[in-house]
Amino acid sequence: MTAIGLTVNARSVEASVEPRTHLADFVRDNLDLTGTHLGCEHGVCGACTLLIDGMPARSCITYAVACDGARVTTIEGLDDDEITTELRAAFTREHALQCGYCTPGMLISARDLVLRLPAPDERSIRAGLSGNLCRCTGYVGIVRAVRTVIDQRRKRGIAPVVGGGRQMLGPVGSGNARSAATVGSAARTATNVERLDKLAGTMAIPDFTPARAFSDQFTVRHPPDRVFDMLGDVSRVAACLPGASLTGVPTRERVEGAIRVKLGPISADFRGAARIERDVENLSGRIVGIGSDQRSRSSTQGEIRYQLVPTDQGTATRVELSIGYSLRGMLAQIARDGLIRDMAARLTADFARNLDRYLAGDQLTGSTEVSTSLNGISLLFGLLRTRMRKVIWRVIGR
Ligand code: FES
Ligand code: FES
Repeated sequence: MTAIGLTVNARSVEASVEPRTHLADFVRDNLDLTGTHLGCEHGVCGACTLLIDGMPARSCITYAVACDGARVTTIEGLDDDEITTELRAAFTREHALQCGYCTPGMLISARDLVLRLPAPDERSIRAGLSGNLCRCTGYVGIVRAVRTVIDQRRKRGIAPVVGGGRQMLGPVGSGNARSAATVGSAARTATNVERLDKLAGTMAIPDFTPARAFSDQFTVRHPPDRVFDMLGDVSRVAACLPGASLTGVPTRERVEGAIRVKLGPISADFRGAARIERDVENLSGRIVGIGSDQRSRSSTQGEIRYQLVPTDQGTATRVELSIGYSLRGMLAQIARDGLIRDMAARLTADFARNLDRYLAGDQLTGSTEVSTSLNGISLLFGLLRTRMRKVIWRVIGR
């Protein structure tokens, strides 16, 4: 992973990214800026066009790490931009879109033409938009929309900007490459290490909006304060979690660890860090974590909220869980929602059983099931057994 810092839509963003991650995936998956569309992912269709340091660029063939220090503007960042507002109105008036898939990239390229073309010349507009493909409109409405905006602006006395403000061309179409080149590689490495250190800090584990969420609960035959104390002991919690291990010395607020998951043909070792929050008054807590697996090129963000509820006159505890997660990469393509829920349910059940045993005084050792990986095949058979049993009971019950 490489640490980068850039400005996206006037907001400072620091992140740790795989060197192979392209900018379009970065803004869509990490920042939820899904207005940047992906078509060919080969630099041909222009659907992914956005601005880097004010210049249109194809984000599908630009690595996110190449944009360290750059100013990126996506279509969402042009909501209040004067030219884009005029273009949006003209596109609507001239019926310049149908499905709209090409439109964000088209608007960004069109904005560049409006900025720099001296006159509404159809030939230049068609040449300028030749890198943005539209499968719906036939281009007539698009060209007419761009022409009218250029025409109206020149009539209002707004002069073109020579070269659209370009200073020089670099790897990402801007002067950013020149400033980067003046910084020695040692200095860049130091900055990177500094950023990684910062990202590894507690503050670097950001809040996020989970793509998926579900809830679960279990009951243990021990009073809430004992369970709460136990949940505050990170090493013991990890020991109760199948496939989990710690990779650093935990504190009360932070833990670094790994969890092994096998899902069908893919085996993943997620390594990451989590931020821990506890509310003693309400016997509740929250764990927010990030992790990635190099082999399957998958990454995840997850959040677990728990609330302890006393039951049986306070002699037992119901642990209510609310779990949210976002998964990206190869695992996201095969891990269907239902399968993840079932796996989480099995994981929760194993955790509850181990927690119960631990609180009852059992010492969990490496030979117990807690050290095994979260094996998808055995889970799958377990799940199939459970589902078959449910179906049989349903049939018999009729
Ligand atoms: S998706 Fe980038 S050019 Fe087609
Ligand atoms: S409006 Fe559908 S691809 Fe352009």
